[in-house]
Amino acid sequence: MYKNVPLVLHMMTVDNYNFSGKKALVRVDFNVPLDANFSITDDTRIKAALPTINKLLKDGASVILMSHLGRPKEGPSEKYSLKHIVPQLSSLLGRPVIFAKDCIGSSAEKAALGLKPGEVLLLENLRFHKEEEKGDEGFAKKLAELSLGNSPENGFYVNDAFGTAHRAHASTAVIAKFFSGKKCFGYLMSSELTSADRLLHGAEHPFTAILGGAKVSDKILILEQLIAKADNIIIGGGMAFTFIKARGG
Ligand code: 3PG
Repeated sequence: MYKNVPLVLHMMTVDNYNFSGKKALVRVDFNVPLDANFSITDDTRIKAALPTINKLLKDGASVILMSHLGRPKEGPSEKYSLKHIVPQLSSLLGRPVIFAKDCIGSSAEKAALGLKPGEVLLLENLRFHKEEEKGDEGFAKKLAELSLGNSPENGFYVNDAFGTAHRAHASTAVIAKFFSGKKCFGYLMSSELTSADRLLHGAEHPFTAILGGAKVSDKILILEQLIAKADNIIIGGGMAFTFIKARGG
């Protein structure tokens, strides 16, 4: 199906490592929709992270999960708490999930320190700290220390948050510098990047790209790339209205 695919991506993924005895700090994107009762209405993003988490657990790692949820503006709030995710995550993983009521500070440090192989810890919403979106290095270091802790040789950073990969936030981009040689992508990130690379560099024509979703601003850059490559672009979902409006609709 694909031709002339350049090897532009030299990714290290979770398949390149054995995580036995490691304390893996994993950035996931659990930004899932919740209803008025805080029940998850679509758990696709949680399910998408399971292969990576299960690989780490199977190897014998302890796993610290961190994510954002929504766009909280004023610090901690019930509406954006990741505690609402715990029952579903626990059921999908088939094991208990420990929850830390903050992503840094004593609750997170204590929970991370005591984590044993096979155990999973979920940290509270990263965006309850404004430093996350600012890409604050001190905040990123505090997160990194949850994994590096008192045995730095066992610390490891895994980024599997594809939905957030375009953000230079503390937990996605900045944190990586604290894990020299001990960092990689998860399965979701690597498969999405591999697909994008193939489509942008080796797709057979005619090649039709379909885009949707609500957040059009994030996708303008992608559209600009695709215009030169794709034969057709189909735009649906909420973002379609921006284009209808721009065309006088
Ligand atoms: C998304 O839902 O698009 C991602 O989780 C990123 O969220 P953000 O646009 O609030 O950064």
